[in-house]
Amino acid sequence: MSQSTSLHVAVIMDGNGRWAARRGLPRAAGHRAGADAVRRIVEAAPDQGVTALTLFAFSADNWKRPASEVAALMRLFARHLQTETPRLLENGVRLDVVGRRDRLPAPLVAAIRAAERATAAGTRLRLRLAVDYSARAAIADRHILPDVDLLIRTGGEQRLSDFLLWECAYAELYFTEIMWPDFAAADLADALRAFHARQRRFGGLPEAAAG
Ligand code: IPE
Ligand code: IPE
Ligand code: MG
Repeated sequence: MSQSTSLHVAVIMDGNGRWAARRGLPRAAGHRAGADAVRRIVEAAPDQGVTALTLFAFSADNWKRPASEVAALMRLFARHLQTETPRLLENGVRLDVVGRRDRLPAPLVAAIRAAERATAAGTRLRLRLAVDYSARAAIADRHILPDVDLLIRTGGEQRLSDFLLWECAYAELYFTEIMWPDFAAADLADALRAFHARQRRFGGLPEAAAG
């Protein structure tokens, strides 16, 4: 298996609410469990050859949700950034948050700035968290990220929901029924195994036929 120098994995982290509902828990409990899954995957990713990881945490359309759920998510993001920063530093992770900031609560904006500054020297993993993100808006504003190699969506839906539409032009797509809070390092390994077994052609011919 040829080891490429860069590997950009993007994840639509879906299924927190259903994970909670199945356990008779409030949706917010699903989001908290989802934050634990983020920690696990961020820590597992570099050892699996991932050099860049972009995680969809909150879409521009998620403002349509009840104010109480939105507020709980915004608090969770701010708290997660604060508590995780030391671990990100230890693990050589550089964090950037992508998406609009002007609609986010001030304490979250402050937590984002602090986490970005603290981790700016990280070189082992480029972690991007998409918050209040819309791919259509990003394209219109010319905020384009590096091409995605592998796009994973958990939670069973097979759609992009306005995530990285430009960057996924040649991404390999991987959909799994696993709910995001249950997604573990072994599941990331499964997705990467499937990815490495695929033949990417980018419109050309398979290597053997290209002569
Ligand atoms: C994904 O889980 C997290 C966010 C969109 C914030 P959901 O909250 O969409 O969970 P489901 O799809 O309702 O199960
Ligand atoms: C996509 O999930 C957004 C995130 C995971 C942050 P949604 O749950 O919002 O997407 P739809 O509504 O099923 O398309
Ligand atoms: Mg969902």
